[in-house]
Amino acid sequence: MARHFLTLLDLTAGELRDLIARAGELKQEHRQGRTSQILHQKVLAMIFDKSSTRTRVSFQAGMTQLGGAAMFLSPNDTQLGRGEPIEDTARVLSRMVDGVMIRTFAHETVETFAAHSDVPVINGLTDLYHPCQLLADMQTYFEHRGDIRGRTVAWIGDGNNMCHSYINAARQFDFKLRIACPEGYEPDAGILAAAGDRCAIVRDPMAAAEGVDLVVTDVWASMGQEQEQKQREKAFAGYQVTPALMARADKEALFMHCLPAHRGEEVAAEVIDAPDSVVWDEAENRLHAQKALLEFLMA
Ligand code: CP
Ligand code: NVA
Repeated sequence: MARHFLTLLDLTAGELRDLIARAGELKQEHRQGRTSQILHQKVLAMIFDKSSTRTRVSFQAGMTQLGGAAMFLSPNDTQLGRGEPIEDTARVLSRMVDGVMIRTFAHETVETFAAHSDVPVINGLTDLYHPCQLLADMQTYFEHRGDIRGRTVAWIGDGNNMCHSYINAARQFDFKLRIACPEGYEPDAGILAAAGDRCAIVRDPMAAAEGVDLVVTDVWASMGQEQEQKQREKAFAGYQVTPALMARADKEALFMHCLPAHRGEEVAAEVIDAPDSVVWDEAENRLHAQKALLEFLMA
């Protein structure tokens, strides 16, 4: 039976920690120009129903660096776009490739695909979760500040796919999470409840940021919500990560954003463009963390 990575709960806490450590080793190897052909001649199919820069480039570069190959599949060019069932596509791709990464809308799509796939399936973002981003975020925190266990994180903004993955990360990596979101934009109640008292909604963003070790935000309107942009700008006014908000956090606090960012909306330019901003390390670590994931699932 193939292992899949549809949410952070698909790996044990121990496996996730090992994976972050392995990502660090792969980063060093990459920096030193050493390559290991761990995935020699393995092929990853990448299905993208939404746009991407980081996810697409990091998976494709990562597969090449590990000695394999990746192929980009868009609904415009495949029979998926013409209505071929997910189940049939999963059965067929399973016989040709060694792994499948999917970025799509409904989370059920990746679940259905995985249920009919004999090869590992990786969630490259759904409306509900973005687990690959959390691997990179955790690697980045560990690199800059050490273990995140027992730390406190503030999520400022929408209770979206990234927020849900932070809730799961709080469970798996054992940190506290305060979620500051406007009314009506809360994370899924079931996902939140499953995390117990580790995660709590704190309406006021300034109060949520008080003394925290990490401040995280994301766009106010995610892919697929473009028509709600104006309404969301109103709802999220007051939820920008500003220098004043960062000043409420611990003086060693990091700021993270999965990118792409909208300066002047969810984050002030002074915060994201600060000389010590770690968002570029965070983006780079998509490459290293996912190489560790590909090795774990496919080697
Ligand atoms: N953070 C992230 O997933 O970026 P892309 O949408 O560019 O892949
Ligand atoms: N929440 C964002 C994340 C993009 C990487 C979205 O789903 O569009």
